[in-house]
Amino acid sequence: TRINLDTAQVDKSGHKHFMAKEMAEQPAILKAALGFYSGLDSDTLELPEGIDFARTDRLIMVACGTAYYACQVAKYWFEKYAGLPVELDIASEYRYRDPVLGRDNMALFVSQSGETADTLAALRHVRPHVAQVVSVVNVLTSSIARESDIALPIHAGPEIGVASTKAFTAQLLVLAVLALEAGRARGFLSAEDYARLVEDLRSLPGFMAQALDREGEIERLTKMLSQARDVLFLGRGTMYPMAHEGALKLKEISYIHAEAYAAGELKHGPIALIDSDFPVIVFAPFDGLYDKTVSNMQEVMARQGEVLLISDPAGLKAAGEVPHSLQMPPVPELIAPIVYAVPAQLIAYHTALHRGTDVDQPRNLAKSVTVE
Ligand code: G6P
Repeated sequence: TRINLDTAQVDKSGHKHFMAKEMAEQPAILKAALGFYSGLDSDTLELPEGIDFARTDRLIMVACGTAYYACQVAKYWFEKYAGLPVELDIASEYRYRDPVLGRDNMALFVSQSGETADTLAALRHVRPHVAQVVSVVNVLTSSIARESDIALPIHAGPEIGVASTKAFTAQLLVLAVLALEAGRARGFLSAEDYARLVEDLRSLPGFMAQALDREGEIERLTKMLSQARDVLFLGRGTMYPMAHEGALKLKEISYIHAEAYAAGELKHGPIALIDSDFPVIVFAPFDGLYDKTVSNMQEVMARQGEVLLISDPAGLKAAGEVPHSLQMPPVPELIAPIVYAVPAQLIAYHTALHRGTDVDQPRNLAKSVTVE
């Protein structure tokens, strides 16, 4: 008998799409990347030699697209765990600004491809004026990697799906390692806090697998979303950039108009849009910001907005009755944004499947944008 081998199917390792395969790879990739950035005793992290956080007085982070949202999450980490001032911008804006730079500034560029034209131009723009140029890339032979003083690999392997998934969570992991190492180098974190946070980071692959297990439930929940014309994502703290990432993924592959707002900004405009046809997705783990976010969610519910609350068991219990909910595992605060990336990805993926769009090659989009 003749075996009809669909080669594309082989490359997708049995998955329907590259995006599905790449989402599923995340626990293994993050585990391997953690191994790469672990010290010999495995109680510590390790960065390649030469990154000088002790001397750095300000970090400048620049990226595009999904990589920019990874930087937005990292800003919270560098401030909280390293006491390091951070300036953050999208590359297409940064490169045309006249940024005020200092000799003790470090510039950090995040790019999956390492070839994004605006990010590369921003790197060249700051290069002569800062102490160090560091990049976080998936392709070590790329232009951005080559033009950096130090390039840190994310070890995600080739990413084929245009909508970035595993590269995003791997970028976040490397940025978390950088933030904790910055905290240690600057004497900002106590030895106990550092040890606890490293342990939290080590629990990441297991939690990613648990989050991926929610797929069946997400598939059912997204039937409602696939009928929507607009979707709003809300979050606070590190969940605010995650709201942006959720909205970006949904726009990219399902073509549904999606927006993200900081939960506290809702009352300054977007609340005017809320009615019973407007799904609002709320990322709210049970943390120090939970009460504030949930009170914003209640404002949406009072206007009959179709709320989907994504939280952990404690958060869902405290919220009481909500129209739709998705239960995530209870995760340490440091890694929550990485774990909550999984529902953001799966929501976009299954909404797109319900709508029958091409998830791996969405219209008008390119994997690597080398034009300005
Ligand atoms: C394109 C891709 C996005 C990506 C962005 C930045 O728009 O479709 O997925 O986030 O470029 O790419 P980079 O390679 O610099 O991370």
